[in-house]
Amino acid sequence: MLRTNTCGELRIEHVGQQVSLCGWVQKTRKLGGATFIDLRDRYGITQLVFSDDSDAGKALGQEGFTREMVLRASGLVIERESKNKNIPTGEIEIKLQNIEVLNKAITPPFTIEDETDGGDELRMKYRYLDLRRSVVRKNLELRHRMAIETRNYLDKQNFLEVETPVLIKSTPEGARDFVVPSRMNENQFYALPQSPQTFKQLLMVSGFDRYYQIVKCFRDEDLRADRQPEFTQIDCEMSFVEQEDILQTFEGLTKHLFRAVKGIDIPEIARMSYADAMKYYGNDKPDTRFEMKLVEFNEVVKGKSFKVFDDAELVVAICAKGAAEYTRKQLDELTEWVKRPQIGATGLVYARCNAEGTFKSSVDKFYNEEELKKWGVTCGAEKGDLILVLAGAREKTQKAMSELRLEMGNRLGLRDKNKFSCLWVLDFPLLEWNEGDPNLLASLAGRWHAKHHPFTSPKPEDIELLNTNPGAVRANAYDIVINGVEVGGGSIRIHNKDLQAKMFDVLGFTKEEAQKQFGFLMNAFEYGAPPHGGIAFGFDRLCSLFGGAESIRDFIAFPKNNSGRDVMIDAPSEISQEQLKELSIDTIIKTT
Ligand code: AMO
Repeated sequence: MLRTNTCGELRIEHVGQQVSLCGWVQKTRKLGGATFIDLRDRYGITQLVFSDDSDAGKALGQEGFTREMVLRASGLVIERESKNKNIPTGEIEIKLQNIEVLNKAITPPFTIEDETDGGDELRMKYRYLDLRRSVVRKNLELRHRMAIETRNYLDKQNFLEVETPVLIKSTPEGARDFVVPSRMNENQFYALPQSPQTFKQLLMVSGFDRYYQIVKCFRDEDLRADRQPEFTQIDCEMSFVEQEDILQTFEGLTKHLFRAVKGIDIPEIARMSYADAMKYYGNDKPDTRFEMKLVEFNEVVKGKSFKVFDDAELVVAICAKGAAEYTRKQLDELTEWVKRPQIGATGLVYARCNAEGTFKSSVDKFYNEEELKKWGVTCGAEKGDLILVLAGAREKTQKAMSELRLEMGNRLGLRDKNKFSCLWVLDFPLLEWNEGDPNLLASLAGRWHAKHHPFTSPKPEDIELLNTNPGAVRANAYDIVINGVEVGGGSIRIHNKDLQAKMFDVLGFTKEEAQKQFGFLMNAFEYGAPPHGGIAFGFDRLCSLFGGAESIRDFIAFPKNNSGRDVMIDAPSEISQEQLKELSIDTIIKTT
């Protein structure tokens, strides 16, 4: 080893020891006749010191030190005169006897410190330098710990980690696939898995009974802060179980992770139906760190000649506690905020409940004190509270109010990233009507689409509705939501060939199409498929939540940017005509 210790290890009790450290130069300072160097490695920073007329000083005197140069430093651990209480090694320093430059470094494009001057794109382009920063490194350390603890828990529960293939068959039923041309099979393509869904179900047919895998998944969809085109799942499946068994097992995993990684004992995870989540939060992944539930106002406000409310399918309110002091300016600004295209509301009505218990609203012309009092009673507003009301088409208004609720939660400081609120959302609808979802192939528009995926089983009591009212069929499907983030989702599966065929039929597949795309699964079901179900956690999302961040990017070593590009290696990129030809896709491009 070139080193005896790491740069994060030495303490006052090591004084007097002869050590060798290796690392990168974070900073140098000259003071009197001495030079001080902060030497950094993965474990921390240690201060080195030498006098300019020492051997080490003379050897390096001419060249000097530049930031990020790689050094091997040997010397004696001594007690510092002026101690630095902010770092664990701050009581000691190394009096250098020998210093070796292991490699030079050119000036980095941004400072490699916690508070860096590098913008996002620059940091991504030089991600290998960004990863030297302790804030980013800590995120990956957390990720590592999460993976280890996941494996510990699942191993104890008898789950087997099995790898499934990455080159598979395209099933454009979910999101869009990334496809890979096959050289050996002309004009044919593999797809990268959106998840190992069908393989894990086949493993259940094989009798593996408890499977898991920490696995890369690939989806060609629009990106957001919590979405990457390649991301990682903790993917799990179990046989001979019902929904309750899965909820218990993975509530166990969630509790274990909070305990082992964050030292937090979370309470039993609350449960809510999809229908209630939509009703009370306007959202299937409610942030339950705070209340501020949506309250339907239709009954209270209609028939008072206020056209906006009278014409609306839904009038819905929230009560922001203690926000009556919002100024006119703040309310105008909030109105502009809800009118932004991302939120899409046409306007915002408000009513303040003043300190005396009287009301003042933006629609005083239509609603008198008595009527406003009814508003207050309906949504539980007390002295000092602010009622905010939106109106319009049901779904759109619910969605806008859900956004406004989160925004008010932010403004009122109710979304503390160190507080965790977990929730199971149950009884999702099996299907949703696809009007033309931009994340799906255009040919799938105007059809029913599986809300979760086509292998999710309907609730037995709702199966009949598949023929008459498919939109009303509820699924044995569940999501786990933490702080308003969909962290995982799963379902009990169909394990009966006929029901699976029926499901493909409802989804608009002809028998031939279903056989061609999913025949392997339906055929497998004929050889004794056990009842089974499972779940997949979004591992990147789980890590970013545990790390208190909104974006998953900083918990991925080499992430893609918002256009799906890796700006460091410059991918995707063009390939040569020769490669295209070998893959037989030069002709496809020409002929289409
Ligand atoms: P689902 O599609 O709900 O289920 O995905 C499971 C979880 O994966 C995470 N996730 C993502 N994370 C980052 N970037 C993305 N683009 C992305 N897409 C999804 C989410 C989500 O909850 N096979 C089923 C699971 C099952 O039924 O067992 C599946 O993939 O946190």
